[in-house]
Amino acid sequence: MIHWQLFLFFLVGRTFAQQSLNINNFVPFGSAVGDKTLERRIDFVTGPIPIKFRFPFFNQWHDEIKLWSHGLILFGNITYNLPHTPPGPFPLRNFICAAPYWADTDIAQDLQSDIFYREVDDVETLSQITSMVRNGFPQFTTYRMLWAFVATWYRVPGHQSSPGRNTFQAIITTNGFYSFTIFTYHQLQWSAGLWGGYPQIGFNAGDQVNYFTLEKSFSPDVVEVVNDSNIGVPGQFVFHTTGNISDVECNSVEGLQSMPFRGSMYGGYEFRLSGICFNQSDYTVEIDGQQIVNCQIAPSYISCMMPMTYGGRLKIRLYSERRPIGETDFLAIEPEHNAHLILHNYHELDDSVQQTDNDQFALQFQSNAITNNYLFHVVVYYYGAQMWLNNGTIHNRTHSRIDLGLGPRNLSLLQNLTIRYESIFSIIDQPVDRTHLLTIAFEVVRPSSRIVWAAVPLILLRIIVVAAVTFESYCPLWHAFEPNPQIYINQIPPCPCRVLTTWSENQLGFTADGACDGRYPLGKNCMFHQGASGCYRRKSNTGNAGAQCCYNSQGAWISNWENGAGTLDAYSPDGSLLSLGHIFSDVIPYFSCCKSILSPSKERCKQYMNKRPPGRCENLLPLPAGGNGDPHFTTLNGGSYTFNGYGEYTLIKSTVAQFEVQVRLAPVNANSPSPSSDNATAIVAFVIRNGNQSLVQFEMFRIQKMIEIRVNGRTIEYTPLTTENIEFFTTSQLIYSDDHQLNIRQTSLTSFEISYGETSMQFIVNARSAFDFLDLLFILPRDLMKNGQPRGLMGDLDGLVYENGTRVLSATMTNDQSLFEYGESWRTTSATSLFYYNSPNSYATYQNTKYRPAFHQTLLQKYNGTSRFTMAQQSCQNLKDSQRCVYDVLITNDPTLSLMHKQFDTNMVTWESYIKQVEEDIANQPSKATTNTISKLLIGWACAHLFFIFH
Ligand SMILES: *[C@@H]1O[C@H](CO)[C@@H](O)[C@H](O)[C@H]1NC(C)=O
Ligand SMILES: *[C@@H]1O[C@H](CO)[C@@H](O)[C@H](O)[C@H]1NC(C)=O
Ligand SMILES: *[C@@H]1O[C@H](CO)[C@@H](O)[C@H](O)[C@H]1NC(C)=O
Ligand SMILES: *[C@@H]1O[C@H](CO)[C@@H](O)[C@H](O)[C@H]1NC(C)=O
Ligand SMILES: *[C@@H]1O[C@H](CO)[C@@H](O)[C@H](O)[C@H]1NC(C)=O
Repeated sequence: MIHWQLFLFFLVGRTFAQQSLNINNFVPFGSAVGDKTLERRIDFVTGPIPIKFRFPFFNQWHDEIKLWSHGLILFGNITYNLPHTPPGPFPLRNFICAAPYWADTDIAQDLQSDIFYREVDDVETLSQITSMVRNGFPQFTTYRMLWAFVATWYRVPGHQSSPGRNTFQAIITTNGFYSFTIFTYHQLQWSAGLWGGYPQIGFNAGDQVNYFTLEKSFSPDVVEVVNDSNIGVPGQFVFHTTGNISDVECNSVEGLQSMPFRGSMYGGYEFRLSGICFNQSDYTVEIDGQQIVNCQIAPSYISCMMPMTYGGRLKIRLYSERRPIGETDFLAIEPEHNAHLILHNYHELDDSVQQTDNDQFALQFQSNAITNNYLFHVVVYYYGAQMWLNNGTIHNRTHSRIDLGLGPRNLSLLQNLTIRYESIFSIIDQPVDRTHLLTIAFEVVRPSSRIVWAAVPLILLRIIVVAAVTFESYCPLWHAFEPNPQIYINQIPPCPCRVLTTWSENQLGFTADGACDGRYPLGKNCMFHQGASGCYRRKSNTGNAGAQCCYNSQGAWISNWENGAGTLDAYSPDGSLLSLGHIFSDVIPYFSCCKSILSPSKERCKQYMNKRPPGRCENLLPLPAGGNGDPHFTTLNGGSYTFNGYGEYTLIKSTVAQFEVQVRLAPVNANSPSPSSDNATAIVAFVIRNGNQSLVQFEMFRIQKMIEIRVNGRTIEYTPLTTENIEFFTTSQLIYSDDHQLNIRQTSLTSFEISYGETSMQFIVNARSAFDFLDLLFILPRDLMKNGQPRGLMGDLDGLVYENGTRVLSATMTNDQSLFEYGESWRTTSATSLFYYNSPNSYATYQNTKYRPAFHQTLLQKYNGTSRFTMAQQSCQNLKDSQRCVYDVLITNDPTLSLMHKQFDTNMVTWESYIKQVEEDIANQPSKATTNTISKLLIGWACAHLFFIFH
């Protein structure tokens, strides 16, 4: 700071037009960074400054702003031209402003000061502004600001007032749908002007409802705001100014939220609670009943370190003076074990049950790129517990984190590490039934500290240790108390009799089993299910049990344990959640029955298998109905047609099944803040209602290159996969999960999957990397559609049908003109819309009933014989359905669109061959048809990308 003050000394009498100025927590300002300066006139207001981005401010859009020398950014057209008569505190009717410091500023005669302003659209400054916003609103962590306007009052004096100068900066910024206002105060040396009063800081929306005045306004104390903050950064205030005033300080409408809402059960990372006002002085935060110490309180959030927990869905509770204030869920997950990356003897150790009389275990490190290039801390996360076998109660639980004190180590130089159990827990005075679960974490000492929410220790190994006598006696004892497995079979979902051998992470509502995952080579993978190529799991909806379904290399279900069949779990590990119940009820019994060294016998192992049978299987027969590219909806009966609407429509609705999907169709860049008259349209958003489950809404934003996901209207904050962070999430990441078994996961940079466990219902969502086209693939239970009287753009099992039951005679690709009326009949109304609208948008924002597309025949005629037509045909060669592809490429003049068609074709071929196999299975096994319930699934594609007109 000193240096520029000295500099100023030499420049007295000149303005600072040539300098770029830097002040802590300000974005750079000054003419060198392109700032304009306000004219030196008393009480000066600029004319309307058109801005490049529509700016949402308290439920209204603004395309222009004005700057007033008195410390205000104005929206709308009202100003007060009586500068020496302050109009008084907000609210003020029709006056729309952000007021960083509304005071009697006067630079007319003062050449040492300036008022700078500019629109910001350079990436570097925007990312600085984005981090200011994130700092105040952790729940907006996924959003990048795309535009800002910065005004800096630099060393401004008051009008003929006592000496002193004020320096502060105001930023208004938006990502296109949310807006934030940032006030940063560097120096405030004067307050009272000739007005006689003191300055006001705040906002006014002009509607007499939305306004806000900082408490210290209208008093000499107002200069103290240089030390105050609502986000923990002295002198800085960040406000959310999109919607209603209740959101300004606290975003309080949505209630308490945790960011992140899921993370490693071993803790050790920061999480923030936000969403309500934190204006008490004293708060207590508890997770799973455990009080968290040393939380930091800022007015808009509380930040704490996540402690080590027992995992699972945990309650975070917030108290003030013992009074409960709010609570929210946290999903504490067990990170994947991956010690094969650095250990030679991983196979012998990971998830094994060891015996305490061995005293110790030895780790043998590989010499490879990881062990040579990184240093590691070695830490053990210890859990101990006992279980009463007679009633299955787990008791005497403890946990602790033990640092082995090795410091940052080069593991490849270390070669071997022997860890004695005694360095972790005491062996001698333990009850014999005490079980010890050790997770050995190799924590990378990172060269640079990158922020990764809920970062987990990088490399993990887990072993279970029990007393030798327990190991041997557990099997017969367990068997004696173990109930008839029928009670579990009744709980668990039946396995699909066949899965696709693409072995994706999720199939038909089931999740790949980490211990036997078809995507990885055999070896240790599938060691406990020899003969299987992959297994899937799903937890019961009604109890703790879970199905484990194992399949051979052809994807057929294995029913015999000697061939590698799955064994149901009395306590499902539920995806990746740690459950001590699973260890005591499923893992230790297996080792004790099947891996005994003292009394090994097939009979003993059979005891286990009898109590843990593979369950049953069910044939699931999907009916793929396809379509993609252009506005091609594939109907439930397998037909396909094109509908070029612009608005929101019912894609499918079954009042009987209480199931409805609505889509929003819009010109490809209509969801940008400045839509052009492009007539190519696409699905840009959809919302799913499935019975009493949470409403799921996806909206794609092209400019922001992101997909916003809402559950029951509430934004789900997630760290989207990017090319940088994908390494931390390996294959896919769960971004939402709730108790009704709704799961939303991101499966690649641009793909998502929504699944509903109990019905096998699944939605696959694919965005093009340009975030312009959204494809939707449904896998629906056939019975639901057959009996549920579906209606909508996708029709029913017999074709297209109007709401009143009237049938459409023919639906094909080429009669899109006559089907336009049908499509329009499915436009929703503001009353039937399921979408949540982010103010100032509403249902009306997205409707255009006048829109008329160009129809296929017109398009073909127009381009027939042109080079564009030849190009379209060439890029769509070798496709199963090249007609759709040709249309899309013709319309967009973008040959890369054919890639989406290829992806679609591949999916179709995969599902078609799957169906063929299931049909053969059914035909070849008539005797089993009685035990295998046949339930059919239906697949519908709605890959409407485009609507178009050509002139
Ligand atoms: C000022 O703005 C309001 C609301 O946008 C509008 O109704 C009014 O006509 C405008 N007045 C002038 C003088 O432009
Ligand atoms: C389970 O059994 C143990 C020992 O038999 C007993 O002490 C305990 O109270 C039982 N717990 C429950 C919940 O029944
Ligand atoms: C509970 O665990 C501790 C070791 O953590 C052990 O010393 C104690 O005997 C156990 N209590 C019972 C009742 O088993
Ligand atoms: C590490 O253990 C392996 C296998 O037991 C042994 O061959 C090797 O010599 C050991 N290395 C050191 C440095 O102790
Ligand atoms: C888009 O459609 C409108 C009519 O709905 C038409 O006026 C306009 O010219 C079309 N734009 C293009 C690029 O074809």
